[in-house]
Amino acid sequence: MIKVRNLRLDLDGKTLFDNVNFDVQKGEMLAILGESGSGKSSLLRCLGRFNLPTSGEIYIDGENIFDDDVNIDKIREKMGFVYQNFNLFSHLNVLDNIILAPIVVQGMPKEQAIKEAKIFLDRVGMLGQENKMPGELSGGQKQRVAIARAIAMRPKVLLFDEPTSSLDPAMSEEVESVITDLAEGGITGVIVTHELSLAKNIATKVAFMAEGGIYEEASKKDFFTRPQKMLTRRFLYRSRMFEKEVLKDALDIYTLVRELKTFLSKYETNKKQRRLIRIICDELLYPILKGNAPSTNAYVRLICSETSLDHTIIFSFKELIGDPLKPPYLDDLNISILEHYSKYIFSNKRENIWEVVIQM
Ligand SMILES: Nc1ncnc2c1ncn2[C@@H]1O[C@H](COP(=O)(O)OP(=O)(O)OP(=O)(O)O)[C@@H](O)[C@H]1O
Ligand SMILES: [Mg+2]
Repeated sequence: MIKVRNLRLDLDGKTLFDNVNFDVQKGEMLAILGESGSGKSSLLRCLGRFNLPTSGEIYIDGENIFDDDVNIDKIREKMGFVYQNFNLFSHLNVLDNIILAPIVVQGMPKEQAIKEAKIFLDRVGMLGQENKMPGELSGGQKQRVAIARAIAMRPKVLLFDEPTSSLDPAMSEEVESVITDLAEGGITGVIVTHELSLAKNIATKVAFMAEGGIYEEASKKDFFTRPQKMLTRRFLYRSRMFEKEVLKDALDIYTLVRELKTFLSKYETNKKQRRLIRIICDELLYPILKGNAPSTNAYVRLICSETSLDHTIIFSFKELIGDPLKPPYLDDLNISILEHYSKYIFSNKRENIWEVVIQM
């Protein structure tokens, strides 16, 4: 339904993104996540041809929207846009906001447009408020009307740009549940959002924008449960993650233990977990960085769970020749101590970097 190929956008002589490729098939919802300024809205605007990319192609329902002879109005009819700031017509009441485009653009008879508008208003929980003016509505209600207006055109794809980000938490929740209900009935499109819960509820896949492009893309499940790359993890875990590079020539176990414990102390823990911090540093980090085998620097990440005791520590070792959980790095005694104190521990190699993951 949406096909993006090698998209590049330069603004003011600066490349905002390059090499962007993705597909959204019928029934799929792609969530685009990323730090502020990473180009999410600009990318979304390209899909409606409100931004002209520097190069690349976009196909909507099989049509290249940048072809010279393409009728962009016809293509835009296939798209429903929902923005952060609602963009309702302030001089029209709720009903007129919804029936305007079906009547003017699609040539629908007024009677039918009204009948259909009521169906869509019902879907967003706004039936009975047809005569209100936008100024009389709360932010959440305005956004629900904006959603009804978008779906009233029966678009093939829906594009949302931060539909909940200008709302307070309660209203954000009501809009979120309207969008989630819609998604359960099956929608196709793209949503840019800061709300991880919204992406979790409605997306089928997720793209994370960073470093001038799509940095990581995966199915929703893989993205949230097994993010592969550093910046994605940092984004997802944000304040819950402690990170530090530990240099083999400047290893200070006492400082590291103190920092890890201080960070962990903000979360619920048990005695065994607090003890484990020290043990990990002594039985794992020290032998690998300071033992007889060729040593390496390490990168430590402690990811704390806000809702449970499931905290995780990940060590990455860049130039290690072999499995860090095997001789010559660790022997059976180190391993059995670590296993005794942790829920599980395993090592794996990814893109030439050995990782040890310890579930505390
Ligand atoms: N018309 C423009 N001309 C020049 N620079 C622009 C223009 N529009 C956006 N930018 C810049 O491009 C960058 C990306 O903007 P964009 O709005 O796409 O980011 P975003 O990922 O949507 O951010 P946010 O999460 O804050 O909404 C920003 O640094 C912005 O200042
Ligand atoms: Mg934006």
